Amino acid sequence: MSLFMIKNKLLITTFLIISVLPKQVNAQPAYHEQYRPQIHFSPKEKWTNDPNGMVYYNGTYHLFFQYYPDSTVWGPMHWGHATSTDLIHWQQQPIALYPDSLGFIFSGSAVVDKNNTTGFGENGKVPLVAIFTHHDPKRAKAGKNDFQNQSLAYSLDEGKTWIKYSGNPVLRNPGITDFRDPKVLWYEPEKKWVMTLATKDHITFYSSLNLKEWTKESEFGKELGAHEGVWECPDLFTLDDDGKKMWVLIVNLNPGGPNGGSATQYFIGDFDGKTFTSSDTATHWLDYGPDEYAGITWNNTGDRKIFLGWMSNWLYANVVPTEKWRNAMTIPRELKLKHAGDNIYVASEPVAELKKNQTKQIKAENILIDKNYDISKKTGATNLPCQINLSIKELKDFSLSISNDNGEEVVIGYDKKQNQYFIDRTHSGKNDFHKGFAAKHVAPRLSKSDKINLTLVIDVSSVELFGDNGLSVMTEIFFPSKPYSHINIRSEEGITIQKLEYTGFASIWN
Ligand code: FRU
Repeated sequence: MSLFMIKNKLLITTFLIISVLPKQVNAQPAYHEQYRPQIHFSPKEKWTNDPNGMVYYNGTYHLFFQYYPDSTVWGPMHWGHATSTDLIHWQQQPIALYPDSLGFIFSGSAVVDKNNTTGFGENGKVPLVAIFTHHDPKRAKAGKNDFQNQSLAYSLDEGKTWIKYSGNPVLRNPGITDFRDPKVLWYEPEKKWVMTLATKDHITFYSSLNLKEWTKESEFGKELGAHEGVWECPDLFTLDDDGKKMWVLIVNLNPGGPNGGSATQYFIGDFDGKTFTSSDTATHWLDYGPDEYAGITWNNTGDRKIFLGWMSNWLYANVVPTEKWRNAMTIPRELKLKHAGDNIYVASEPVAELKKNQTKQIKAENILIDKNYDISKKTGATNLPCQINLSIKELKDFSLSISNDNGEEVVIGYDKKQNQYFIDRTHSGKNDFHKGFAAKHVAPRLSKSDKINLTLVIDVSSVELFGDNGLSVMTEIFFPSKPYSHINIRSEEGITIQKLEYTGFASIWN
């Protein structure tokens, strides 16, 4: 090769490098951008809010989600779609439902119509049926009160493609401005479908034999629970209590959550196919943190009840500092009834499937914390994402800080005097996008045990706290200027950690 040719090649190569450089400098590999959750689902790009249409069918977990493919702020809603065989690794699929002449596609659920009650099935193919809210923006703008109606779509290829029902809407609005988010279940004793619908400040139950014609059964909750905001995204299902079946009604609320903004409350009681009755009058929160909302459960998972929430808060969801996408989902959680003292609660813990994604596990026992202890002494490097489990046999103040070298940290702990867990993100990093984001949040400790059991699921921009096997739960997001790389446990008066377990996770996007 002559010098001229080499030079020329160099020139051409240099030109090529320069011409692609601006892009390469900014471009970070997909799903590895700053703040991108590494063990939580988030869409590849653009806006998401509520999880929708969650249904398990033929070995696949379907997750649909409120999605706006044209922007990173909320807009005309579509149903995005993702699938998983293990609830942890997700494949984003083509958009399932687009807005149409009846409006945007708001939240709702999906069922497996095994008996073909709808008649949508063809040639023995079982229809998956989505029941969702059509939100008509024109009628909303015109000041009408009937702009939200319930509609159907079905799929005969296991969720790949969807056909909207020609008879939509199937449940018309009687004149209630907030009339949305249908969650449908099969009520076996009467072989009928039951729809739980959020109707402004209460729940309305409807029933149907074919998902197309609905009869109003009853109303619940005008005088019960938290009411500082609108009731949205409900769910109704059973959980086992020592062999006895109890009914649980989830009602999401915005605003009015225990730490401000949106949050998920629930009622435990009985449902007879027509009416729900709550067994107590107290308000219960499934997650006390600011960043779990619109959480509901998967349909068709047998005795297991798996819950998933949106990991954000309507107070700031539109302005959090991510560029390519906005917002993510929580870790899927298994729900169980648990007793504490005379009370019964819905407890949630990360699904067991999460552990299958572990790359490293280190266990240590009887660690004396004298003021400050860097856990990497036992665990080696403390890379995120990870899970930390702590067992402590005494009730004393302690905290765990996740921090970086820029002096930013999230502090998670237990305050004995108040008998509360807390997460303090006051100095966690970027927080100027919303007044009030930099704050300390608390959750009551509900357990009566004198032994603390704490599980923390920590991703690059979130922490989920599961206290006492899921009795007190908090979810919180944060945006450090540099990834957190240290984890320290602190106790002023000294404390012994009976068991410390550190589990490192692989990115689910590798
Ligand atoms: C809850 C919610 C739902 C509604 C959807 C619209 O976050 O407001 O009530 O269906 O979001 O995107």
